[in-house]
Amino acid sequence: MTYPDFLKCVFLEECDSTNSYVKQNYEMLSKDLPVLVSSTAQSLGRGRDQRIWVSLKNKGLYSSFAFTLRKDFNFNLLPLISGIAVIETLKVITGIEMVLKWPNDILWENKKISGILIENIISENTIFCIAGIGINLNYTVDDFHEDLKDKITSIKMITGEMIEPKKVNPLLAGFFFHWLEKLEAGNDKKIIHLANRYSHPFRGEKISFHPIGEKRKIMGIFKGINHDGGLILEIRRLAGRIHKIYYSGEINN
Ligand code: BTN
Repeated sequence: MTYPDFLKCVFLEECDSTNSYVKQNYEMLSKDLPVLVSSTAQSLGRGRDQRIWVSLKNKGLYSSFAFTLRKDFNFNLLPLISGIAVIETLKVITGIEMVLKWPNDILWENKKISGILIENIISENTIFCIAGIGINLNYTVDDFHEDLKDKITSIKMITGEMIEPKKVNPLLAGFFFHWLEKLEAGNDKKIIHLANRYSHPFRGEKISFHPIGEKRKIMGIFKGINHDGGLILEIRRLAGRIHKIYYSGEINN
């Protein structure tokens, strides 16, 4: 498998975080986009909500795609296409179809195998986007802190096989840019259809939802993903059930 020929690749032995590397080298990298920055280890891997992303050498894939998007694209679909690209990559490697937990966590048997951190720099007409993707490849249960042991998995833990990050990266890049092209072509329906298919195991399930920037958690039933990438949550009120749409936040279970 080879990388898309339009993609510039930067491979690092170690860095603090591939997303941070893109930001620190923004001037230089933005001259030749799109770029993939991948590192065999991260000393300060970052997750969403200021969390740490465990990033031991060659135990995971730590990659960031940097590219620009016009401002008129539906930005809510970016997490979804990243998640879809990871699911399709893992399906080729393991033969298993994993689950999308809206907006962009990837689970297997309710344990997280991949997480995505999207960051952007907004200018006049364009958005400079960084899609940082972490996939647990060769971790064993002992690599994780006690609190995480029953919440996280890896390809090695699922299949028993070791896999090199350099085998996964080109596949991921291929799927990622395939879906980015679809997004740019306005193929939103296809993206939403797939995101709903991959998050199907959550449909009808009771979830605890944490809207971003708020302290409260909302209990509701996951009803799917709407036409522009929002989470549809069914909530009980005295007057009956209502459907609310959320565009940012996190499902906690
Ligand atoms: C999450 O689920 O909280 C998001 C995790 C994102 C981790 C990846 S690894 C590559 C890139 N660099 C980082 O520091 N974070 C992302």
